[in-house]
Amino acid sequence: MAAKPVSEALLRWYEGEARALPWRAPPGAPPPDPYRVWLSEVMLQQTTVAAVKPYFARFTQRWPTVEALAEADRADVMAAWAGLGYYARARNLHACAKAVAADHGGRFPETEDELRALPGIGAYIGAAVAAIAFGEAATVVDANVERVISRLCAIETPLPKARAEIRRLAEPLTPADRAGDFAQAMMDLGATVCTVRDPDCPQCPLQAMCAAAASDDPARFPLKAPKKPKPVRRGTAFWLEHERSVLLVRRPARGMLGGMRALPSGPWHDKSPGLAEAPADIDWAAFGTVSHVFTHFALELDIVGGRALTDTGVEGEWWPVDAIEDAGLPTLFAKAAALALAQRENDQ
Ligand code: ADE
Ligand code: SF4
Repeated sequence: MAAKPVSEALLRWYEGEARALPWRAPPGAPPPDPYRVWLSEVMLQQTTVAAVKPYFARFTQRWPTVEALAEADRADVMAAWAGLGYYARARNLHACAKAVAADHGGRFPETEDELRALPGIGAYIGAAVAAIAFGEAATVVDANVERVISRLCAIETPLPKARAEIRRLAEPLTPADRAGDFAQAMMDLGATVCTVRDPDCPQCPLQAMCAAAASDDPARFPLKAPKKPKPVRRGTAFWLEHERSVLLVRRPARGMLGGMRALPSGPWHDKSPGLAEAPADIDWAAFGTVSHVFTHFALELDIVGGRALTDTGVEGEWWPVDAIEDAGLPTLFAKAAALALAQRENDQ
């Protein structure tokens, strides 16, 4: 594939069609604040643009600079992240802000290699920040880019095995100049034209060079290896009330939803532990079951509720039930809380 026609056609298209996004500079303009680029890319990894926008607005309003974020309490950062998922990202976000403030005088380093030495910055974010904020000719490969490249080159190797081949093909396409615009143009093309189910080839600036468009089914690419079904784990979470407050705990820093506020719950295994890990010896009422899908397993969490006569002997914080939205519960426990609240209404 000749590189120049691809990058030229794509950049010309981007000049007319770039999405206006709060963390972005318009095509051809000087790069935006590296802090905003980094923050947006951490949020956008695994999460859609639409879901990220309100979080990005709240974070940048509350913590306008990397130093401000570095000085924040970790618990506040975790709570502000609640609902975005993949909570290790929030822990790393805070650790990275602290490292930039402490070791780099509050300025992000400008090369892909130095960026990658910071906490939570891997191949994707390192390349994205180097290209978008600093103009380095780094190649950014996300799922959109994988899709566009696998179609342009009609790659018959299925994902994830095709990743190395895709990267090898993408690198020479990246222009020395305007690598940031090029990366974002690829992402926008994948998000708006070369979509998963329904690529709009007649509207695509790359149609004349695209091997998949010349076939009768461009959406066949990228091929995917069949997925293994996810194992199911089961657990019980406890909604324990005392005087219009509910018992919340903080999950251990390591492990699922690490560092997040949560309802108390025992381990999640093949078999439900039932009431074995209950935080109080009372009559528990069954409220129902919440299902949630994580990366490596699906969880069926039974929710049980009850009232404690005293608040002694249990570790955690008693959180006012009426302010439960402010607790920063991750989605799984927000669903559990919604179920518990609906059940309480029924009982009253
Ligand atoms: N997805 C991840 N990063 C993005 C960006 N900078 N623009 C659009 N979509 C993205
Ligand atoms: Fe995707 Fe079609 Fe464009 Fe090829 S021509 S990159 S398949 S939208």
